Amino acid sequence: MKEKIEGLKKQLNDLKIESEEQLESFRLKYLSKKGLIQSLFEDFKNVPKEDKPDVGQMVNVLKNQAYEMYNSLKSEIARKEDKGTNDIDLTRPVEFSHFGARHPISLVRKEIIDIFNRIGFIISEGPEVEDDFHVFTALNFPEEHPARDMQDTFFIEKDPDIALRTHTSSVQARVMESQNPPIRTISPGRVFRNEAISARAHCIFHQVEGLYVDKNVSFSDLKQTLLYFAKEMFGEETKIRLRPSYFPFTEPSAEMDVSCNICGGKGCNVCKYTGWLEILGCGMVDPNVLKNCGIDSEKYTGFAFGMGVERIAMLKYQVKDLRLFFENDKRFLDQFRGAY
Ligand code: PHE
Repeated sequence: MKEKIEGLKKQLNDLKIESEEQLESFRLKYLSKKGLIQSLFEDFKNVPKEDKPDVGQMVNVLKNQAYEMYNSLKSEIARKEDKGTNDIDLTRPVEFSHFGARHPISLVRKEIIDIFNRIGFIISEGPEVEDDFHVFTALNFPEEHPARDMQDTFFIEKDPDIALRTHTSSVQARVMESQNPPIRTISPGRVFRNEAISARAHCIFHQVEGLYVDKNVSFSDLKQTLLYFAKEMFGEETKIRLRPSYFPFTEPSAEMDVSCNICGGKGCNVCKYTGWLEILGCGMVDPNVLKNCGIDSEKYTGFAFGMGVERIAMLKYQVKDLRLFFENDKRFLDQFRGAY
């Protein structure tokens, strides 16, 4: 009996099993009810009593060995034959999950802020729901100015007038009220105008406005600051031009164009064959505005400017329809993945 067990053990060790069929015949031959291992248990009845403990142990060891062999061969063969599901390599690097991308308006706003931060402008913020004084009166808007009309401004209350701010110049009025010059600040934020939504206009948009008040601030400081901005934003080759304009809060006032960064000034359909693109309004702070905000207009002068972030983003990324910035269509937003 002992030799028989040893013999079977040797047979198991010498077996070469590589396919499912071979494994199945192994199971039938050794492990099934009529298999060789089971037959050892039959023979066990005839083993002399004194040998039973020894032989019993040997049979059990052999049986366990055969089962272990069967199980490990089974999973090995399955893994080989079914690579797709079972061949998992745990050492492979994980697949990158998709993070959201920054919105193009956030990207451009940050870029504008960074450019002015580098020359010492610090951020000021203020409320979106504002009183009449900070949106209009302090900024020298005459009583009959059209912006004070319901058609242009979203009023929340009348008498006293409370409105959604139409520009972030309101923040600058608050800064001038509460701080002494020198003041060098930019105010990024959302603004609201009662306009029909189209490819070029929206009732909500974003601005970054700037203000510099100190002794001896001149128009040439304004021009130099804006030239620096234009070159940083649109490239070293960029030129600027200032056209006379009108704002109630600045005198003189101007609108600034940059040379078209698409055709380099030669003329194309983006710049409507003029070679220039309008990007912002600016001017010297009207002395009345300084006075309204408690700053000595004999001692101090200042300049101010304001731009629409959507407008800059449209030019930078050549987006033809402003509404795309508000629709949050993933296919549009995905194009800015990885932009900084
Ligand atoms: N506040 C103006 C606007 O909203 C922009 C501007 C700011 C113009 C400062 C001149 C000076 O259009």
